[in-house]
Amino acid sequence: MYRVAAVGGDGIGPEIIAEGRKVLDAASERFGFEISWEDFDIGADRYLATGDLLTYDDLAALSRCDAIYFGAIGDERVTPGVLEKGILLALRFYFDQYVNLRPVKLLAGVPTPLAGKGPADIDFVVVRENTEDFYVGIGSRFKKHQKAILNVERALYSLKFELDVESDAEEVAYQIGVVTREGSRRVIEYALNLAERRRKKLTSVDKANVLSDVYGLWREVFSQCAANYPAITTEFTYVDAITMWFVKNPEWFDVVVTPNMFGDIITDLGAMIQGGLGLAPGGNINPEGTSMFEPIHGSAPKYRGLGVANPLATIWAGSLLLDHLGEYEASAAVLAGIEAAIAEDAVTKDMGGIKGTADVGSFIASAVRKGA
Ligand code: IPM
Ligand code: MG
Repeated sequence: MYRVAAVGGDGIGPEIIAEGRKVLDAASERFGFEISWEDFDIGADRYLATGDLLTYDDLAALSRCDAIYFGAIGDERVTPGVLEKGILLALRFYFDQYVNLRPVKLLAGVPTPLAGKGPADIDFVVVRENTEDFYVGIGSRFKKHQKAILNVERALYSLKFELDVESDAEEVAYQIGVVTREGSRRVIEYALNLAERRRKKLTSVDKANVLSDVYGLWREVFSQCAANYPAITTEFTYVDAITMWFVKNPEWFDVVVTPNMFGDIITDLGAMIQGGLGLAPGGNINPEGTSMFEPIHGSAPKYRGLGVANPLATIWAGSLLLDHLGEYEASAAVLAGIEAAIAEDAVTKDMGGIKGTADVGSFIASAVRKGA
């Protein structure tokens, strides 16, 4: 029996998680295991009512679960960034989910905007570092004559620009990216191991030609780790160039490992080439701890409660969750169920269908039960 936390969150989050649960329950029936769901009311409604983003009780209860199934957060009543940083990023950091696993796979029957490319060409996995880089939250912003300027900031600016920030600059903001040897090593090792189980090719992303301190370290660690995996072909790409190759030659890629912020950017591009955000799942993984699975799209508040949201990315994230629990057959059956829904046109409007959110979930749940 697995204990799984369900965090619907905001906007369409609760609806799509409900469909994902339907499908995972069907998979558990068919493959002979049990899921005990634990519900959490984390999200904008509770924040607006109580001021709580994440409580110690939430974290303690989530820690007792085998995995977290996460819908989406983001609400028009809350200043952008509050829920994203206070809930989603806080969970990724608290549980040290250092791998953000984002498969980019074009399923049969799904149109891609890339002319002349098909499912055989688009099948790679992005392994995004998920705890460091420009996401560490170290930064500041201040105006001329503002009193509380830290000495370290003043020193940085005078050193770099020969600028006295208090007297010369009108307004200054900065944000620091942090990359550590161990933080890079663990995610690069994960990617090398994944490549070993796939087509044995690993591409590293960076911008070491400009941001040479942080990504110079990343590159060095990559080279050192890769030396222990002679069977894996490795290459370096700059982040600007990889956006070009994703579009021109996606078939070159097998596993792509990237620092956090570049990973954020290139996986939205990846989502588009696999048919859109409605089809892009992600896993936030701590191989030794609590992992969390989510669609990579947001909460789409304007579709909340209308029953039209596409649940496929969430259901696919459920397949990743099952894989993570070691339920490989069940995981594959869920993905097959998604493919069956696409083949039968049991899809929502954004994919050219006429089905509602719940119809799609029910279709896939019954496909999984029948072993379609
Ligand atoms: C993502 C999102 C998040 C990120 C936001 C919502 C904090 O864009 O999961 O890709 O930047 O990681
Ligand atoms: Mg993103």
